[in-house]
Amino acid sequence: MNVKIVKASDVKADFALVGVYEEDDKRVAPGLKTFGLEANDHAVFQLGHEASSFAFGKMHSFPADGRGLLMIGLGKRDALTQEKMGTLLKSAVAHVKGMGFKSLATTLAADSNMDAEDAVRGLTSGAVIGELAFTHYKSEQPEDKIGEFTVQIVVDGKQATKLRKVSKDAAIMGAAVNEARLLANTPGNIATPAFLADAAKASGKANGFKVTVKGRSQLRKEKFGALCGVAQGSANEEKLIIMDYNPAGAKKTLAVVGKGVTFDSGGISIKPGAGMWDMKYDKCGACNTIALMGALKDLGVKHRVIGVVGAVENMPSGDAQRPGDIVTARDGTTIEVLNTDAEGRLVLADAISYTRDKFDPSWIVDMATLTGACDFAVGSTYVGAMSKNDELVQSFIAASRKVGDKAWQLPQGEEFDEANKGTYADLQNISLTNKAGTAIGGSFVSHFAKDTPFVHLDIASKAWTPGVDYFAKGPTGAGTRIVLQRILDE
Ligand code: BES
Ligand code: ZN
Ligand code: ZN
Repeated sequence: MNVKIVKASDVKADFALVGVYEEDDKRVAPGLKTFGLEANDHAVFQLGHEASSFAFGKMHSFPADGRGLLMIGLGKRDALTQEKMGTLLKSAVAHVKGMGFKSLATTLAADSNMDAEDAVRGLTSGAVIGELAFTHYKSEQPEDKIGEFTVQIVVDGKQATKLRKVSKDAAIMGAAVNEARLLANTPGNIATPAFLADAAKASGKANGFKVTVKGRSQLRKEKFGALCGVAQGSANEEKLIIMDYNPAGAKKTLAVVGKGVTFDSGGISIKPGAGMWDMKYDKCGACNTIALMGALKDLGVKHRVIGVVGAVENMPSGDAQRPGDIVTARDGTTIEVLNTDAEGRLVLADAISYTRDKFDPSWIVDMATLTGACDFAVGSTYVGAMSKNDELVQSFIAASRKVGDKAWQLPQGEEFDEANKGTYADLQNISLTNKAGTAIGGSFVSHFAKDTPFVHLDIASKAWTPGVDYFAKGPTGAGTRIVLQRILDE
């Protein structure tokens, strides 16, 4: 997908895409003028005499060689969002492609009363993210007669330079999201911890960051007791993947930690069979982390950014850990493993304390599919965000608004710390209440950041979708853009 910001005078495309609000008169839609279509143009005239609806996403197509017109409903005034903008563009591209054309130019950014930067970000995201579908494991590949498709976004000439940068950054972030989605969709038999380590190494080589990997024997020697306990039942050895983007002149260090459970069977506290296949997505935090490291150079990030992934497989076996086992995390905290299915926090415990001790970053953020309860707390269109540092978590939520990847704050505090206290050890890995599971999970992992400012993003709610906005069914990369934008905001 090729996305370009152009002035009206530079438009050259097979199709013109114009948006119309439900309440407005389509014959005087401002976008029509841009494309030199008058109110009495044949197609538009015809439309004016039909009882045609411009409900959100409704399309009216007037193909013509070299000058097709596609009018699309923007729905109700003031109800448009970045995500909806992207959705409109995705449908329009599918329509124009389906008719065998290779490009469209759109006035959508100007047709709405949305902020121009938001509109451009939404359109670019819809074009880039909307393009990816998960068909590569099918033996019969869909035929691609079109090749690379071009989207021209028409903007006011005075704003072109600024909006070109907005679109470029959104395209880089969108590509990172797609990379995270492709990694995440790779099933557990292929995407083992070693596979994730190789993916990180390949990206490091291509995108200028250093990658080191610690394996089972080293992690055991270095007393990563919580992380290794989770992995001990699996034949696929655990890996700690350490990625270091360190541009010349960097003054600050920021850190991102990802939960990389390549498959979460639950272990001895085994999960029910129905839906267990979705637990290949329990590595989404790791996939996001690996993918976002690859975007830092292209985005021109000036800070040192550390990405750490704890990659393990949670399996039941004769070697697996048992409910009731007590493990010692690398920072010395003892933990009762009351439920082997609450494994993510055990992996993160050691990954976070390592990150803190080794790199002393200004802040740490983690992304993890940590709790099934997150879906109940914030629903499937939000990421759950939490921290003991209110200002820091708010800055992540502001970043999330900006990029159109929604997050909502959940509470943290001593009530939740209390729920994690163990009977026979310092902590236990589940609480014995059935309340606030996501906040309690967040409190558990924050223990290992000690006094380092720390934000926990529980992405379990939004990490994969049956299909929403411009996302195809499958993993979404949710959280990737939030963290990238927050890094840019630093
Ligand atoms: N990977 C799961 C969380 C999860 C469940 C994410 C469903 C997405 C959808 C995690 O390891 C887990 O199993 N958590 C338990 C914690 C509980 C035992 C305290 C959960 O959420 O049930
Ligand atoms: Zn689990
Ligand atoms: Zn898990």
